[in-house]
Formats: sequence, C-alpha cells, structure tokens
Amino acid sequence: MAETTLDLAGVAKPEAYADLARQIDIVLEGIDDEVAAMATISSAVHNALRHLWTGFYRVAVPGKLLRVGPYQGTLGCLEIEFGRGVCGTAAATGKTVIVDDVAAFPGHITCDPRSRSEIVVPVFDPHHGLLGVFDVDSDRPGAFDEQDRDGLEAILARFASPRPGP
Ligand code: SME
Repeated sequence: MAETTLDLAGVAKPEAYADLARQIDIVLEGIDDEVAAMATISSAVHNALRHLWTGFYRVAVPGKLLRVGPYQGTLGCLEIEFGRGVCGTAAATGKTVIVDDVAAFPGHITCDPRSRSEIVVPVFDPHHGLLGVFDVDSDRPGAFDEQDRDGLEAILARFASPRPGP
C-alpha cells in the first residue's frame, strides 16, 4: 500500500529521497491543500529518515514573521522572526541553509537541546512568493549535506508548481 510508512534510515540519500518523493506524489495525488501537503510531507520525511524534528514554519507576516506549521517531533517554538536563527535566515535570504554545528550558528534558536545540526529549505508558491520554510533537525552533528538539500528541494518544489484549476 502506498500509504505505508517508509523506513529509509539506512538507505543511501539519493535513493531515499527518490523513494520519498515517489511516495509523497502518490499519497498527495489530486490533493490541492497546502496544509494537508505539509502535514503529509512532515510525517513521511520524519518517519522515513528518523531525525529529531521535521516540519514547516509558515509565513504569518510577509517579510517579518514565521509561525509553526505542521510538524513531527517535540514542541517547536511557535514564532520566529525573519532573520533570526536558521529558519529566519532561510526565510530572509530565500536560500537553503545547512548548519553542521548549531552551537556555532549565531542566533540559533534552541527548541530541543538535543539538536546538533539542521537543514532549512525555503518553500515557494507558484508565483515565487515565500510560503514558509521546511526545517529538519538532527541529534547528530553534520547530518546534512548537498544530497539532503537536493532531495528536499525536489520534494518541496511541488508547492511552486501551478495547481490544476477547478
Ligand atoms: N532550529 C530552528 C528553530 C526551530 S526548531 O528547532 C524546531 C532555528 O534555529 O531556526
């Protein structure tokens, strides 16, 4: 069944992200609902890769404020200003940020003290407006690299695709 949770923790990253992207496409086929897509992606990525925290911060006030969206993991901070921490930096620059050691990142926001490294990917709508960011935190230092960036950016590109009309 396509909805079965994948376990990809030991699988090479390019293959794991390709499997995840396929699964997410199948599960979300015909669904044009941003929050349903965010919740599904958070669950699929979190349970397949088993990091510490996986989820979205959505733009609440454009250019100013992010607010927590669908996620998996322990309680996340509710609001993050643009430019603050890793999520706020990705939102302000519109670029993916990979942090090998969160303790060395100025202004890193500690929601879970076990967090050691993270990747934050900006999420755009079809008009290149910023919808939010996707944040994955790990309890291992240096857990993320270019392969994670490529894999996650490919999955999140679905939000930038024009939606089928009614
Ligand atoms: N890691 C983020 C804060 C959010 S949480 O860890 C869930 C940051 O510094 O932007």
